[in-house]
Formats: sequence, C-alpha cells, structure tokens
Amino acid sequence: MPKIKGYDIKNGVPVAGNLTIGIYDTTWKFHRDLPPTRVFAYGTCKESATVPGPTIEALQGTPTFVTWLNFLPSQHFLPWDPTILTAIPPSGVPTVTHLHGGVQPPTSDGNSLAWFTASFAYKGPHFSSPIYYYPNSQLPGNLWYHDHALGLTRVNLLSGMIGTYQITSPQLEDPLGLPSGPEYDRHLVIFDRDFHVDGSIYMNSTGNNPDIHPQWQPEYFGKAIIVNGKAWPFLTVTRRKYRFRILNASNARFLQLYLSNDYGVHFTHVGSDANYLVRPTVSRKFLLAPSEIADVIIDFSLSTTNEVILRNDANYPFPDGDSTDHITGTVMKFIIKPDKVQDPSWILDTLLALPIPLPYEAAKTRYITMYEYKNGDEPTHLFLNAKSIKEPVTETPKEGTSEIWKIINLTEDNHPLHIHLGAFTVLEQRSMSDVEEFRTCMNDTNDAVKCGLEKHLTQEVFAIPKHERGWKNVFKMKPGNVTTILVRFKPIGLEAQYGFDVTAEPGYVYHCHILDHEDNEMMRPMKLVH
Ligand code: C2O
Ligand code: CU
Repeated sequence: MPKIKGYDIKNGVPVAGNLTIGIYDTTWKFHRDLPPTRVFAYGTCKESATVPGPTIEALQGTPTFVTWLNFLPSQHFLPWDPTILTAIPPSGVPTVTHLHGGVQPPTSDGNSLAWFTASFAYKGPHFSSPIYYYPNSQLPGNLWYHDHALGLTRVNLLSGMIGTYQITSPQLEDPLGLPSGPEYDRHLVIFDRDFHVDGSIYMNSTGNNPDIHPQWQPEYFGKAIIVNGKAWPFLTVTRRKYRFRILNASNARFLQLYLSNDYGVHFTHVGSDANYLVRPTVSRKFLLAPSEIADVIIDFSLSTTNEVILRNDANYPFPDGDSTDHITGTVMKFIIKPDKVQDPSWILDTLLALPIPLPYEAAKTRYITMYEYKNGDEPTHLFLNAKSIKEPVTETPKEGTSEIWKIINLTEDNHPLHIHLGAFTVLEQRSMSDVEEFRTCMNDTNDAVKCGLEKHLTQEVFAIPKHERGWKNVFKMKPGNVTTILVRFKPIGLEAQYGFDVTAEPGYVYHCHILDHEDNEMMRPMKLVH
C-alpha cells in the first residue's frame, strides 16, 4: 500500500493537507498464479490505485481535507440486491467514504445516504460536499476508511474499497520507543475473498432465501485469505521487535489469530481500534471481529525457529459455524533471518494517558436489542431495537456526556457493534437466562425494562480480555449476553470540545459491522443534541 501524507509542511511547520482520492475501475493481482482481478480501488490516480488503498498518514492536531471522487462505470461488476434498502440511481455505482474511528463532523462522516455516482450525476439525499474535513484532534491511533453506501457496503468493500489511515503524534509517540519506520512498523489488512478461475471476484448471485431476497445472504465468506492485497503472503523479518497494526477488513469473517509452531513468540498489544492501551498486555491468541484493529508488537528475537505462521481458528459464522481448515486457517508466514541484529526499540510499562471511564457520570442508560424481529408476514428482520433504519432517530445523546448502553443480543450470532463518533469502554458482558421468553416479550412490547431484563441476567460473566479493556469503537456482542458499555460523547484528545457542530445533519449512525447485516438494516441513526 502506498503512503500519502495527510498534511503539508510550510516554513518548517505542518499545515492542513488537501488530498484528492478517487475510486477507480481497475485490476489488481491478488496472487502470482491468479489472473488480474477487476476491482474498484482507491488511489490518487487510476495508475496508483491499490487494494487496499493508500495509507493516509495524518498528524495529530493538523487537519486533513480529502476530496473523495467516484470514477466508476454505469454498473457494478458484482451482484447486489434491490429488495434490501439500497441506493439505486438510474445509472452508476453509488459510493460514500467513511473514516472509521474518526472524530469528524456529520457532514464528513460518510453517511450511507450521502452517496454519489461518477461526476456527481446522481446523489443521495444526505450528500452535501465531496470535500471531507478530518480534524485529527483525537489521540494518535489507527483508523481506516471504507465505503458506506446504503445497501451496497458489503458489495463495495468486496470490490476493494478499503484503506488505512493513521494519526501520529511525534511528541506523544516518539518517547514510547516502539518499533518505527516503514520496515518495522507495518499495517496488516486482512480479509477473505473467493475468486473464479479467471481471477474475477466471486460473490453469490442468489440469496439463501431467494423468494424474499434474490441475492442477499446473511454472511459472505471467502476461502482465500488476503493480507495487504496478496493471498497468503510471506514477510521476511529479522530477529527484533516489529509493530503490526492488524485490521480485520473482512465482510463477516472473525479472525482468531495465533502464531504457530513456536512457543517463544507472542503478541504484546499496545493499542486496540483507534486508541492506545494505557498499559501493554500480552496474549498468545486474540479474536478480531470484522472492523476491529489490534496494534501489536511481535519480538522475533524470541523465536526458536526460522519460520512462524500466523493462523486463524475462528469458526465461521462465529461462534458456531464451520471450523477453519488448512486453507482458511492460514493467514501469512514470517520467515525469520537467523542472524542476531540490534534492536533499538523497547516497550514501556505505561503507554499513553487516556481518560478513565467513570460509569457513575453516565447521563443516561439505553437498551439496544439485537433480535430477529417478526412482524406478521414480513420477512424476518435483523433490526436493532426492532426498528428499520428509516424510522426516526431514537438515540440522541447530549454532546459532552457519557451514556451507558446495554446491548442485548438475543440472536445466535456474535455481532460486532460499531458506534460512529463515540469511543466506548466495555464494563461487563453477562449471559442471560430464558432468552426465548425474553425474546417473546420483546417482540410484543420492545421494552427491555418491562420484560424484566435484570431478572434475566445470570451470574455468568465473561472476562473481557485485558487488551480489549481500553477505549474502543467496535465490540463483539456475544449471543445470549447483555454487554454493558460506557460511551463517551466528548472528545478523547487535544480539546475538551469537539470544535465542530456535532449536532448537524445528517447525524451519525451505529451498526453491526458484519457488512451483510449492516446492509440489511442492522443499523440505526444517532443524532447528537446540545
Ligand atoms: Cu467501519 Cu459505519 O463503519
Ligand atoms: Cu450482525
């Protein structure tokens, strides 16, 4: 992935950067033995468009303006489904880019209805400007950008609309002494794809229930595991520490990552999603849902072999689906050079100071229920709170406050819930008793308090892994569990105030980040108020 700077330098000082990034109809080589694949890819020009797109390197405190353009043809090359709520212009491929993990105004947030087609021929109702403003005043960390067009997100990401974005702060990060520079500090963007023998991307053209949805399926899984645009790549490393910013950019596949055939090496987590951890924590295996990011250090000097394989053993769908095999369970290989090398990097006991979550300060408690909602003869919907995305906004947090959200997952799947703008901390994940009875009550009343949520909580509490106890923007909602999170609607970063109108139209959204669910309305609007 090429790197581009999200700022300029004038007279030795950083000033706001102005980038133009287009989405191009081009081809990409996913593997030496596979013919070129048609993709829709991000780039500063067609010749430089890549999958994933360029990494944008932004500087904390210096804004980045990106003009997002669409150069796509009149038709998509992948199938999509007109029966789910979808942007359907008379011609063209709708796109709109969201900076995931970014704290930015609603007009620059990539609302699903702010889409547009090539030359702005057709625009969604929430389109305002193609120039997006990213203030970069949050703390340094890992973000990513991807398409967010209504009903087409799963299709557009499969086509290639994915890229990483990183906010750095030399003042805060240089003293940490972590591995740095392009050689030792790398992004690993992982996703799964299926291909036809001619190299084209395979996506099902029939749905699992074609009488209702001719094309839509509950989850897309591919058999090829792609890292930074290459199927099952290898990376030659030396015997020292490396930093890997690992993003799961799959549509629906969870990744449970571990390093095989070597007990010496492990992961030291220094960040998760868009934020650093206060203290580094060690793991041998960790679970990344779609859209989650793990920022880890691997010290190859601890290795007792010359080859380590990064593997994945997460069932798909997660948690109760098929198990991975040799093909889907292999991610990439590290080939470790035998000779000893100098390693000037280190890992401190404390990393960055971050706000302490204060649950008693929460201004409000909200209940968000995930369940397969049935209404008469209508198809079953995987709505949030039994509401279509079209229904008026119900989540209206007050700017500057924190809220407790209790997410009640009555389905059989694990759903990674992502909230735009707000960062959250997981307070507790607790399993429920008599889920069936509770679901029946919810289907009748849609009122978690009336249905006696407290009575349905068991003593079975899931221990939140240490590396997930920081400020996150996605978390895995376990089936049959109530997950309590504290969401902050005040900035974590340079300023006490957002510095832009968070209450402006069209507001924000929160949704499941399994893209097939998000596209089928497992998404709701969220509007901040003063
Ligand atoms: Cu990564 Cu609303 O998305
Ligand atoms: Cu989901």
